[in-house]
Amino acid sequence: MTASAAFLDACRRRPTAFTPIWLMRQAGRYMPEYRAMRARHGFLELCRNPQAAAEVTLQPVERLGVDAAILFADILLVLEPLGVGLEFNRGEGPHIARPVRSAIAVERLPRVDVEADVGFVFETVRRARKALADRVPLIGFAGAPFTLASYLIEGGASREFLETKRFMRAERGAWHSMLARLAAITADYLNGQIAAGAQAVQLFDSWVGALSPADYREFVLPHSRAVMAALTPDVPIIHFGVGTATLLASMKNAGGDVIGLDWRVELGAAWDELGHHVAVQGNLDPAVLFSSLGEIRAGVRRILDAAARRPGHIFNLGHGVHQETPVEHVKALVDIVHDLSAR
Ligand code: CP3
Repeated sequence: MTASAAFLDACRRRPTAFTPIWLMRQAGRYMPEYRAMRARHGFLELCRNPQAAAEVTLQPVERLGVDAAILFADILLVLEPLGVGLEFNRGEGPHIARPVRSAIAVERLPRVDVEADVGFVFETVRRARKALADRVPLIGFAGAPFTLASYLIEGGASREFLETKRFMRAERGAWHSMLARLAAITADYLNGQIAAGAQAVQLFDSWVGALSPADYREFVLPHSRAVMAALTPDVPIIHFGVGTATLLASMKNAGGDVIGLDWRVELGAAWDELGHHVAVQGNLDPAVLFSSLGEIRAGVRRILDAAARRPGHIFNLGHGVHQETPVEHVKALVDIVHDLSAR
C-alpha cells in the first residue's frame, strides 16, 4: 500500500499496513533547509511566495519520510485582510497591532474575499500537489474560530486569555457575530484549499484548552461546528486542540473524522472515551525528541500499544516540533514509528 493511501485510509478508519505518521510543524526552524530559506525571506514573505512555500512544504517529505505533507502557511494569514496589522517579529511570535476589543470594532471588520486576499495559499497548494505527484497526500489547515478570535482580541500570544474571556461575556452578541464571521471566512479558506487540491484538512483550535467545558459548549462549539459542516464533503477533517482532556467529547460533537490528541492525555483512555468510531491522531510529547533514541523508541511503543492496532490511528506529536530539536531525532522518530508499526 502506498503511504498516501494509508494516511487517508487511517482518517477513514480503514485498516492500513502500518501506522501513518506526520508531524505537527514538520517544517520549521529545526530544519537547516528551512533556516536557509528564512535567511533570505521574512516569514510572511515566504508564505506569500507560492514557489518558495511549496518548496518548504516538500522539505520534510524529502528529509523525514513522513506519510503526509502539511501545507506551509499559517493560521493567522486570514487575519491580515482584516486590516488589524499582523506581524511576525523574530523570536517573539505573532503580533497584532490593532486588537479587536469592542462591538464597534467587530462591526467595522472588512469583508474577506479569500480568492483575492489569500489566493497565494491556494496557489501554494496547487504547486505542492504537483511537486508531490501523489507520493503522499497534502493536508491543508486553518485556525478554528476561537483560536483566531483569541489572537484578534489579545493581540498576540496569551497565557490566561483574560481579554478574550472578558469580551466573551461582556459582549456576548459581538462575540457570537465575530466568531460567526471567522467561521465563514475559515470555511471559505479551507474550501479554497480543498478546491486547489488539499486531500485532508486540519482545524487547529490550539488554545481552546483554556476554556471550561460549559464555556466551550456555549461560546465555541456552534462556530467550530459551522465551519466543519460547511466543508466540501468526503475530505477528512482532523480537529485538534491543546489541553483538551475535558473537552474531547464536545470537540467530537462539533465535528471531525479524526480527533487530534495532545500529549497530556492517555491515548488509549481518550480513544475509549471518544468511541472507536472516530479516528485519533497523536500523541508523543515533542520534548521526548530531546532524549536518546532508546527513550524515543519507548515513547513510540507506549503509544502504539495504547492504539492497539485499531484502524484509525495516525501517529503524530502531541503538539509542534520545538525549534531546538535535533533534526536527526525527528528523522529517527519517523523510522521508529514505521519500524514498530510494520512488525
Ligand atoms: O510544517 C508545518 O507544520 C506547517 C506550517 C505551520 C505553521 N504554522 C508555520 C509556521 C502550521 C500548521 C502552523 C499553524 C499555527 N500557527 C498554529 C496552530 C498550531 C499550533 O502550534 O498549535 C498557531 C497557533 C500558529 C500561530 C503562529 N505562527 C505562532 C504562535 C507562531 C510563532 C511560533 C514560533 O515558534 O515562533 C507562528 C510562526 C510560524 N508558523 C513559524 C512556522 C514555521 C515560525 C516562523 C519563523 O520561521 O520565524
